[in-house]
Amino acid sequence: MGILDKAIAGSVKVIPRPVVKRISSRYIAGEDLESTLAKIRQLNEQGCAATVDVLGETSDNKREAAEKLKDYKRVLDALEERGLNSGISVKLTGLGLLFDEALCRANLEEIVAYAAEKERFVRVDMEDSPRTSATLGIVHEMYGRYGNVGAVIQAYMRRSIEDVDRLIEAGISARLCKGIYDEPRKIAYKDFDTVRQNYIFLLEEMLKGGVYVGIATHDEYLIWHALRLVHQLEVPADRYEFQMLLGVDEELRDILVESGHKVRVYVPFGKDWYEYSTRRLQENPKIARYVAEDVVRS
Ligand code: FDA
Repeated sequence: MGILDKAIAGSVKVIPRPVVKRISSRYIAGEDLESTLAKIRQLNEQGCAATVDVLGETSDNKREAAEKLKDYKRVLDALEERGLNSGISVKLTGLGLLFDEALCRANLEEIVAYAAEKERFVRVDMEDSPRTSATLGIVHEMYGRYGNVGAVIQAYMRRSIEDVDRLIEAGISARLCKGIYDEPRKIAYKDFDTVRQNYIFLLEEMLKGGVYVGIATHDEYLIWHALRLVHQLEVPADRYEFQMLLGVDEELRDILVESGHKVRVYVPFGKDWYEYSTRRLQENPKIARYVAEDVVRS
């Protein structure tokens, strides 16, 4: 990322909300469930599975966490009713992790049990590093009871290889991503190439370890390595899938689908679109630059 791009990406937070909303509509399925279901139907028709994220990341009290629980049950009902190929992705801070871990565990258990009845999969997103141990601990516990739940591993985390070994031992599926939070160097690798190398290292361990892997990246260099490993290790097609965010590099997504690989798209929806969208914009200076130009023009 060049200095100018960094400066533009860093100033995303001062972009007016209506402009962020217009530009980010490609990253969000909609504010309501109905438009989200239509988007998932479309993705299914294009050969992709989905996973639904209800936006609004942290809950500060019991009432908000209970709302989130209700939202996810509503999503699970709707996915079943419409016969859509989709699971759900859940953030534990949305279910109460920041103020009551026991409540959070109980909320997640209710969602996982409800999803199990409907034969749906629950992916527990990974958040910032103070949440890593609690999140993985809860996933291990839920997996032991229900089985339809999986973890996320971030390649920038120095601890990830140990977490991967424990997931392999327990047979728990994991999504592997680079990691999106701004972590201190003591905890996370900061260098782009080191994160890439660690991604490849962790992916190889996971594929050799036989757990189901969600290869979540839009980085074609990593996708090439993933395809290489799948080929060299003769990994069966039912042991992995590629995962991408809605609205990001659809061309690459189509290339993977057309080559016969399973692809799942992460589909966020809801009224709390602003925080998610600014994160996506900060990640992609090309789009942030476009937004900046748009602001200058308007
Ligand atoms: P990188 O950022 O290098 O991007 C590679 C290329 O993809 C870029 O050159 C650009 O062309 C394109 N690209 C990337 N982002 C784009 C954007 N916003 N708009 C347009 N193009 C873009 N993180 C986390 O900490 N916890 C989690 O639970 C998850 N979950 C998750 C699920 C899924 C399905 C995905 C794909 C990603 C996540 N992430 C995540 C986010 C992840 O950690 C990471 O921040 C992003 O995927 C960006 O990293 P890439 O590997 O795509 O590489």
